This record gives sequence, structure tokens and C-alpha cells, in this order.
Amino acid sequence: MKAITFREYGTPVVLKLEDLSIRPIKPNEVLVKVKAASVNPLDWRLMRGAPYFVRFTWGILKPKNFVLGADVSGIIEKVGSKVTALKVGDEVFGDTMPSGCGSCAEYVITTPSLLALKPKSISHIEAASLPVAGITALQFLRDHLRLKAEKQILINGSSGGVGTFAIQIAKAMNTEVTAVCSEQNQSLVKAVGADHTINYSQTNIHEINKSFDYVMDNVGNLKVKNFTDLLKNNGSGVQVGFQNFRITFPVMFASMRKSIEDGKRLIVKTAETNTSDLQFLADLIEQEKIRPIIDRVYTLEDTAEAIKYLETSRAKGKVVIEVNDD
Ligand SMILES: NC(=O)c1ccc[n+]([C@@H]2O[C@H](COP(=O)([O-])OP(=O)(O)OC[C@H]3O[C@@H](n4cnc5c(N)ncnc54)[C@H](OP(=O)(O)O)[C@@H]3O)[C@@H](O)[C@H]2O)c1
Repeated sequence: MKAITFREYGTPVVLKLEDLSIRPIKPNEVLVKVKAASVNPLDWRLMRGAPYFVRFTWGILKPKNFVLGADVSGIIEKVGSKVTALKVGDEVFGDTMPSGCGSCAEYVITTPSLLALKPKSISHIEAASLPVAGITALQFLRDHLRLKAEKQILINGSSGGVGTFAIQIAKAMNTEVTAVCSEQNQSLVKAVGADHTINYSQTNIHEINKSFDYVMDNVGNLKVKNFTDLLKNNGSGVQVGFQNFRITFPVMFASMRKSIEDGKRLIVKTAETNTSDLQFLADLIEQEKIRPIIDRVYTLEDTAEAIKYLETSRAKGKVVIEVNDD
């Protein structure tokens, strides 16, 4: 099978299109014929081995798992002898990274616990855009911030993969959304449901003269003091995005305290894919409460171009790789 590999850390030049053999599946695994994959910032961070600490789990000198990609949508081709939840021919979507197998390939082996049935009303390209960004938005809003209706949320970094899902999920939970993005993405964030927008080239996010019940930072440029200023008393903030450790470490330390000031608390977590949350997203799709925003679609051969584009941090919604269009 064809697959996009990175056998060393570096810039997108390390990405190669290789022919790999498909290993036999274990009893608890499934083989998925990939129809589409999508790329996330995590993919280029692992490709670069940066920040350096990712190498402690991903391989110190070179990547242990060298096929790129996490998000997938495809068709079950084979099931292991102990698999009961899925059958050959099922159309599924999910996040294959926790199983150690990359999705930017013609086939991927993973476990049913990282997959759910694809919503029928959307294409494989749209379904492949959902898992990592959708699960991140869902878990941070529903589980970590515990959004309540009628409250106000500020979403910083609202026009990318996580942001476009976060606006829609926050609206589905009946909160009032203020979305921060550049001039060019004002109409996009309004189209997906933002009640108010802030153009960060006109209004510095560090100088917004308003406070919110919740703050979601998908950019990673808010310091502890910024969260303190932007949150109402007893409000909660989450840091989702990462820029550098000078910002992240103090936010992480502050998140260990019960409150940073006046009952305000900070949360730093990592999203974890599971079938029930994928199913939750699929239900939101079927109820027409969320819809994927697809910015660009690349072929498998052009995955390096997709990663280069994603690395500009200018993606509007999701960047998808179409793998098998038969
Ligand atoms: N903690 C977790 O478990 C977890 C899981 C998934 C993702 N993440 C992280 O979350 C972050 C966002 O992921 P993503 O998939 O949404 O990335 P993405 O799609 O690459 O985000 C691109 C978007 O970022 C916006 N942006 C860039 N700089 C900005 C700024 N200064 N202010 C406001 N918006 C800005 C851009 O909008 P403009 O062009 O309008 O600036 C663009 O639309 C990444 O750092 C990723 O690693 C964390």
C-alpha cells in the first residue's frame, strides 16, 4: 500500500510516499481502507519532533511510528477474530494515532475503540475532518469547561479546525459565543454561528475590555494574567493550543491551583478519542447542529503540501487528504 512516511524528524521534505506491506491484524484490530484522512497541528509537530519532549514518547532519535496522520474516514476491510462491534463493509471514522498507526495511507490498522460509524449524511472527506478537532472541541467545552446555557464564552483561535467545531458545539449548548480571528475570517465564524466577533488585528486580545464565563484558547497565546483579566469571577479557562513553554508552563502550574483569583480556574488537558464521543459528534452532524468546514483537499501524493499549508496557521476549518476516491 502507498503511505506517507517520515523516517526522520524535520521539515516537510522528510515526508515520502512509500510502498509498505500491510501486516496481519491482531484479534482485537480492524483493517480500514482509507477513503480520506485529515491533518492536524499534531502531525507537523510529530514530523518535526518539536517541541523536543514529544520525542520521549515518539522516539528520541527517529520516529517509532513513521506513518503520518491520525484522522481517518474509510471502510472496514477486515476484522480480527475478537471484534464484534464492527463488520466488513462498515463505513467508519476515527483517530488512529493512539493505536500507533498513521492514517495518511491506503490502509490503516486500528482498534474499534477509536472508531465509530460514519454519519450517513456527510462524505468521507467531511467525516475525516471530524475526529481530532471535533473531539477536542467537544471534550474541552462539555467535560472540562462544563458549559452551561445562557453563559458567555470567548473562543480565541476560532477559525481553524478546533475553533470552527468549538463555535458550533458551544452554540448547540446555547452559550453566547464571541469569536476571535483575523479580518479575513470574520464572515466564516459568523456563518458557523458566532454571536460576536473580535478582529485581533484591530483589537489586541490582551486588551479586550470585557469578561466572560469561559475562555477557550486554541492559539496558546494567553498568559495567566490574560485569563485572569478575561474571566468573570468563578469563570473557567482552558488552554488548548500551544505556542511555547514560556506561556504554557505558567498556565500549567496555575491550573494545579484550585483558583487563580476570585474563583477563576484554569484547565490544561489533552483530548482523548473514544467511540462514544465520536458517536456524539456523529449525532450532532445528523441533527444538523454541526457541519465540517473544509478549507482544502489534497491528494495523498501532495500530503507534504497540505502540511506546509497547515504549518502557516492560516487554515480556515480543516485540511483533508483524499486517499481512495473509487
Ligand atoms: N490539547 C489538545 O488535546 C489539543 C488537541 C487538538 C489540537 N490542539 C492544539 O490546538 C491548536 C489549534 O488546533 P487547530 O487544529 O484549530 O489548528 P489550525 O487549524 O492550524 O488553526 C488555524 C487557525 O488559527 C488561527 N490563528 C492563528 N493565529 C491566531 C491568533 N493569533 N489569534 C487568533 N487566531 C489565530 C487562524 O486564523 P486567522 O487566519 O484568522 O488568524 C487559523 O484559522 C493547535 O495548537 C493544536 O496543536 C490541542
